[in-house]
Amino acid sequence: METRSQTSDNGDITDTGKSACPVENSTAELTHNSEKELRNALGKIAESYDELHNISVIQQAKNYYQLPLGSYNSTIKAIFQSAEVALQNLIRLTRLASCKIAQDDINSAMKYVKWSRGFHQLLESLGSAAFNIQTYFPAQCVQRTARFSIKDSPTLKEYVFVVSEFESIFEAKFLSKTEKNNLLNTIGLTSHEDVVYSIVHSLRILVHDAVKWESDLTDVMVEPGLPPYNELVATELLKTAIDTANLEAETYYPMFVALHQIPEILSAEVNDHTERAILYVRSEELSLAQEQLSMSVKLMEPLVKAQTVMVDCLATGEYHYLRENLGPASGMHSLAIRQHMFRDLFCSFWKELELWITKGGGSLESKLNEICLARHSDSSNGESYALINTAIQLHQSFQKWRHEHLNMPRNCLGSGGTKSMIGIPDGLDMVKKMRDASNTFPSLKLFYEAMNLKLTSQEQDALLTAHHLADMSLDSQLIELTGHVTREVFPEVQKKDVCPFRSSHPVRKP
Ligand code: HEM
Repeated sequence: METRSQTSDNGDITDTGKSACPVENSTAELTHNSEKELRNALGKIAESYDELHNISVIQQAKNYYQLPLGSYNSTIKAIFQSAEVALQNLIRLTRLASCKIAQDDINSAMKYVKWSRGFHQLLESLGSAAFNIQTYFPAQCVQRTARFSIKDSPTLKEYVFVVSEFESIFEAKFLSKTEKNNLLNTIGLTSHEDVVYSIVHSLRILVHDAVKWESDLTDVMVEPGLPPYNELVATELLKTAIDTANLEAETYYPMFVALHQIPEILSAEVNDHTERAILYVRSEELSLAQEQLSMSVKLMEPLVKAQTVMVDCLATGEYHYLRENLGPASGMHSLAIRQHMFRDLFCSFWKELELWITKGGGSLESKLNEICLARHSDSSNGESYALINTAIQLHQSFQKWRHEHLNMPRNCLGSGGTKSMIGIPDGLDMVKKMRDASNTFPSLKLFYEAMNLKLTSQEQDALLTAHHLADMSLDSQLIELTGHVTREVFPEVQKKDVCPFRSSHPVRKP
């Protein structure tokens, strides 16, 4: 196989004309250490999804300072915990960018600046969620409002220090007396074909984003009585969860893990709100149910954003480089995202909604019609309508998550029968099937049909789609080539049998 790059001394990927992927040859070198850990040249090979992403530590951090599940304060906590994980990664990425600039390796510096920009975008999305959640601040607390701020994060203080270091290195390199004119020309006369321009461009935007998220994460209203920042956010535990997610060489593994850990934190919170929404529908407290569901929708925004960061930044070869160390871990094994959010609570909620609407008799369609028609003239219909509307927004945000997620098997696995790490014969095809299957749940379908809404992820016959999906379209060829490369780099994975997975956790059914 033609290969393009390999690890440098520090394990980074450099374009040398050789393989980016030590695992190409390393299968033969797999070793067991004394504790019977499976390892390769890069370090430990994860035994499971939970181990790979340190899910037990993430759960401990959630439970470290206990708050009522699905409460206003617990939502704020989940947002700040996610911000903490993002900041820890920004520290690492900024140090790497500094290091590369100091070594005159501007192309590599650009990669880390790109990842940094992604984490800033994610922080911006977390900031917006924090701001928007405040509209649900419990009215009874207004007189006793307390405030919670990112400025109390020791990680933010460290990040400011690391940014200053980066800036000194950047200034020494590009703003010295001799270099300043070159930078002037770069800014004025070049574009993204010049990597220095791209860095400047990204730095300007990234700083602007930072100003926004820092403002949104400052003085956020909280119910009184919360402990200091470190205790509520469980900073030490989160640091452990992040620090142990590393390999012996410099890889994209920590970012890969962080972009699972943040969704894990957020989805656990989404689940608590959705569960409370189900209970409120059952007790016919619709406005409370709607509020709970709205919080889930708000939290889905950064959850989706975490996907787009990985989609934008992770290159095929970078994924291949760390793939073997992922072991048999699949997002399908995620209790919070896959089992609870996409399955148990999703099904429970739509069933509960159907039950509630049809409980007095009559078809769902006629009841929904009544609610829609009278939503402005009758306050109880207005309340019902708001709930149904929010439920549809939540489902759409799940579909948006799935849409973004599909980019990853497209970019990193490719088509043509590339097996996933759990031996599924065609990983990409499987993810498409999972997306489409989620639209077939009977209660959900009934609502979409009754409201005359389309429940499809793609129109097969649409003009542009038909063009792109054609066998010999450029996209089909590129995705097929991606599959070809992946299968060549991982012949061992292609020999895997399907590794059946049955969750040992009971169905989460309120
Ligand atoms: C390069 C990155 C990724 C690749 C190549 C990938 C690939 C896959 C594949 C092939 C499946 C189908 C099951 C299997 O065979 O394993 C899957 C399912 C899944 N993955 Fe990923 N994934 C990636 C990133 C992520 C991330 C960042 C998350 C979450 C934070 C995630 C969460 C999930 C979930 C929840 C499912 C089940 C989907 C559903 O129920 O619709 N994956 N992924």
